[in-house]
Amino acid sequence: MKNLNEKTITQAVIDRNKNTDNPRLKTVMTSLVQHLHSFAREVELTEEEWEYGIKFLTDVGQICSDSRQEFILLSDTLGLSTLVIAQNHRKPEGCTEATVFGPFYVSDSPELELGENMSVGVKGTPWFVKGNVRSISGEAVANAKVEVWQSDEDGSYDVQKEHLDHLEGRAIFRTNAQGEYHFETIVPEAYPIPHDGPVGKMLQQLNRHPWRPAHLHFMITADGYERLVTHVFREGGEYLESDAVFGVRSSLISNWVKHENGLDPYGKQHDKPFYTLEFDFILNKTGAAS
Ligand code: BEZ
Ligand code: FE
Repeated sequence: MKNLNEKTITQAVIDRNKNTDNPRLKTVMTSLVQHLHSFAREVELTEEEWEYGIKFLTDVGQICSDSRQEFILLSDTLGLSTLVIAQNHRKPEGCTEATVFGPFYVSDSPELELGENMSVGVKGTPWFVKGNVRSISGEAVANAKVEVWQSDEDGSYDVQKEHLDHLEGRAIFRTNAQGEYHFETIVPEAYPIPHDGPVGKMLQQLNRHPWRPAHLHFMITADGYERLVTHVFREGGEYLESDAVFGVRSSLISNWVKHENGLDPYGKQHDKPFYTLEFDFILNKTGAAS
């Protein structure tokens, strides 16, 4: 086909793609081409702007490495991650809500026993976290894999620290027969997402800040249940209303209780402040209707 013009080009591309044997690919690509072309028509995209866009996407790709995932930051700051998560996790009322995964998860965290400290040697205020993992009907979920990760009190994750030769501030726990989990760590603080790259520049040009409110990441996996990727946010913390990646849900905001001193849940005396958190997770059964 030749002599294509601004009116006929969209259908020509859709027709060229239609011979794929993969029906889902056909649906996705047809819609992608339609929406991309509609976008260019709607804003009357100039050649300079499209060159800028290609340079931007090139920069996003080029800054990516084993420890830097700029495309996740782009998806998160454009709200696309939140949209995709929300439409893929429509759950019955009462189930714990999912939120963004973020770029700082690693799959080979140390496996610790319940009660162990996942932030040994990390400077910060001690924090004792516990709760239950249950089904919506109240059944304890025993032996659930509870993966936890967090920033430190300066707002940095272990994987961001170039000098560090080990993992810290992350662990894998297993719930006991009663579906309980508990562990020790330190209180994480609010932090800016990495903003020294193209996504940071984009935020700056849009007059947006890069900060996330203080939170603790959880990923919970158990046979017979949907995987839950979520956070627990700190009640009263800064940036709850303006999270750079749109990840806050009211149901995930919780009271991080401050104790000036005294006995921690494991019976150890503290002369300085420590915090406690109790948070239960309600999993959705696989195949359960929303
Ligand atoms: C995080 O919470 O680790 C995170 C999420 C999205 C972008 C950057 C960081
Ligand atoms: Fe985080």
